[in-house]
Amino acid sequence: MDQNELKKQVGYKAAEFVEDGMTVGLGTGSTVKFLVDALGERVQNEGLKIVGVPTSDRTREQALSLGITVKGIDEVDHIDLTIDGADEIDNNFQGIKGGGAAHLWEKIVAINSTKNMWIVDASKMVDTLGKFPLPLEVIPYGSGQLIKKLDKMGLKPELRKRDGEIVLTDSKNYVIDLHLDAIEDPHDLEKELIQMVGVVEQGFFLDLVNTVIVGREEGPQVIDN
Ligand code: A5P
Repeated sequence: MDQNELKKQVGYKAAEFVEDGMTVGLGTGSTVKFLVDALGERVQNEGLKIVGVPTSDRTREQALSLGITVKGIDEVDHIDLTIDGADEIDNNFQGIKGGGAAHLWEKIVAINSTKNMWIVDASKMVDTLGKFPLPLEVIPYGSGQLIKKLDKMGLKPELRKRDGEIVLTDSKNYVIDLHLDAIEDPHDLEKELIQMVGVVEQGFFLDLVNTVIVGREEGPQVIDN
């Protein structure tokens, strides 16, 4: 099974956990795309009634195109379950997200959810976080100075660009990726980063997830934290 098939497997599996009447946080990324497809099919075929709270403009557009009712984060009372992808998850269920530059909205939706579920192919499960660069969402103003500071701290920062253009988040901020390779203490680094002026949010998702679904050759593995 290729990686895409594994992503599809977990996306469709996660959709089975969604029940009629739920308000569901919809993550972002290539894995979540399959989840939203699966939910769209359930809405159309079974008449499933849900409200989706998307974590990006991309996800909102996809959900709307499939007939899923969508509301903004400030239009709902509560979120029952958020289902999202991740870039890395370690053995303690701590994660890094933000490879798709959506981690600020993803985290706002996640912390306002009763339950959080992550869906990943097996390659995302790691012993130590950090091979995947840790993303920071930062205010554009002064981001050059911030990069110099991060560099002096030995955190190997790189302004995220695509096709030579600076990547903008849905909140019109920049992303700085930290190439750390191995992160010994995520909680310590999180504390240090979040108090830096100009950093809006960082890509650690610590002590947040309740359930992880891992895509494997032999079928999806559902792990409760
Ligand atoms: C978006 O910013 C990310 O947090 C994604 O959820 C994460 O990168 C997983 O994306 P894929 O499912 O595309 O790997």
